[in-house]
Amino acid sequence: MLSDSAVAEINRIKEKYQDPRSCLLPSLYVVQRENGWIAPEAMAAIGELLNVPKATIKGVATFYSMFIHRPMGRHLIQLCTNVACTVMGAERLVEMLKTRYGLDPNGTTADGRFSLVIMECIGACGTAPAMLVDTDFHENLTEESITKILESYT
Ligand code: FES
Repeated sequence: MLSDSAVAEINRIKEKYQDPRSCLLPSLYVVQRENGWIAPEAMAAIGELLNVPKATIKGVATFYSMFIHRPMGRHLIQLCTNVACTVMGAERLVEMLKTRYGLDPNGTTADGRFSLVIMECIGACGTAPAMLVDTDFHENLTEESITKILESYT
């Protein structure tokens, strides 16, 4: 279930800590970065690799909202539609993503390239509207700029 590169990276992380439970968050992150989400089988594989009970892995993985537990596209768009972003046109961006990419909130494009989640304020109200694509921050979005930005994610 884990790729060779994920196993190698988790093994490197393991070397840094005495207690394998300390490796849980970075190990889960490795899997999510690689797969876009964390499948139950991946949690089991991490458990075996770290010799940590599955229940402990699940407890940690489900406690933090940044970990995703359903299949996602290769890239996760997190678009803010809170007050400042909406005033600056975020709703038009949501419509554009639907029209141009067939991408609804909580949905995934047919080609598996993008998933979209609407999020609360990401602290960039002064440069709204704003979004994250994976861990990359983008601000001052327009319909034109968001199209150009998304072209760079394959
Ligand atoms: S309202 Fe969107 S970043 Fe604050």
